[in-house]
Amino acid sequence: MTQTLLLLPGDGIGPEVTAAAARIAGLVAPDLELQDDLVGGASIDAHGTPLTDDALARAKDADAVLLGAVGGPKWTDVARDKRPEMGLLGLRKGLDVFANLRPAYCFNALVDASSLKREIVEGLDLMIVRELTSGVYFGQPRGIDTDADGTRRGYDTSVYTSPEVERVTRVALEIARGRAGRVCSVEKSNVMETGLFWRNEVTSVHQVHGAGVELSHMLADACAMELVRNPKQFDVILADNLFGDLLSDEASMLTGSIGMLPSASLGIEGTPGLFEPVHGSAPDIAGQGLANPCAAILSLEMALRWSLARPDAADRVMGAVAKALEGGARTRDLGGSMSTDQMTDAIIDQL
Ligand code: NAD
Ligand code: IPM
Ligand code: MN
Repeated sequence: MTQTLLLLPGDGIGPEVTAAAARIAGLVAPDLELQDDLVGGASIDAHGTPLTDDALARAKDADAVLLGAVGGPKWTDVARDKRPEMGLLGLRKGLDVFANLRPAYCFNALVDASSLKREIVEGLDLMIVRELTSGVYFGQPRGIDTDADGTRRGYDTSVYTSPEVERVTRVALEIARGRAGRVCSVEKSNVMETGLFWRNEVTSVHQVHGAGVELSHMLADACAMELVRNPKQFDVILADNLFGDLLSDEASMLTGSIGMLPSASLGIEGTPGLFEPVHGSAPDIAGQGLANPCAAILSLEMALRWSLARPDAADRVMGAVAKALEGGARTRDLGGSMSTDQMTDAIIDQL
């Protein structure tokens, strides 16, 4: 049966980097059917909503979804529930992709592109497993209200249930089994109820399902510090939605640029995964052909590996990116001068 990959280019540099990934897909998986649809600001402009029911239905029907990025200054004044970012959250929730894998590995060719010293990042290979469909991103109540006395109040609710913590913890344990076998769970159990709950639940899940995996715990602020002091101590970092968001942006700089970091968001087996760069729509460079396409191309690599069961094609993509970098291919964020298309050509030359 034909497999389908739904492309949701989105906004800003999203369409530029998604087009690069689509070119690569055409070469390594020519039989893959590519479809496309709108999300984020592009969908607001066309349909008045950041995610249509139709686009979500197509995503659910696809074998995998590759998203570019959403958001930008054009939509800052749009009502919160209609903002581009809500399209992305709706997609994550709608696909129930609760486990977000954000690998940070430093390609050998890029050890000197990081803002950290060579010895800190050389050989770095860590995986952040971020819970993606709950926590403070979705908790109710939330709002901005005015009290009777005129005091204004802004609030969000951080909430997790035991099944939510259990399922993402089990993914982290499974991932660790295929790696160095260590999970470090992070939270703020010293100040947050959800933090203490998270720590206790993860510990219980590990007792039942953690054979062969070493579990440790760290406060999220300390983890942020350790990530730049000695990142190679980590194998798998398990975090909630908010801390995982912050720590993965931090981890991206260990790899040289946020333009390098891909991600895979997975639900239960047999449902389509959502694959997207960790970076955003980069309004400051959008439309100029300056975006690094590697995060999007490596997100395609993850789609081939995790949802489409094409490990050989995934290996080819990974090898071609590594070789292109070894050959000196660099976009501006990596200290070079290549355009998005030139960088993509350099990767294609290696295929
Ligand atoms: P950003 O990641 O878009 O940009 C941060 C910085 O990194 C900018 O200087 C940008 O030029 C640079 N950068 C990012 N990707 C790059 C690439 N591929 N190549 C070269 N340089 C790159 O973050 P931001 O500016 O804080 O957010 C911009 C918009 O993107 C916001 O609306 C935000 O909500 C949205 N956003 C979307 C996603 C997503 O769709 N998954 C992720 C993060 C942010
Ligand atoms: C990310 C982004 C998103 C998030 C935004 C755009 C909703 O920052 O994917 O890292 O906060 O999850
Ligand atoms: Mn983020």
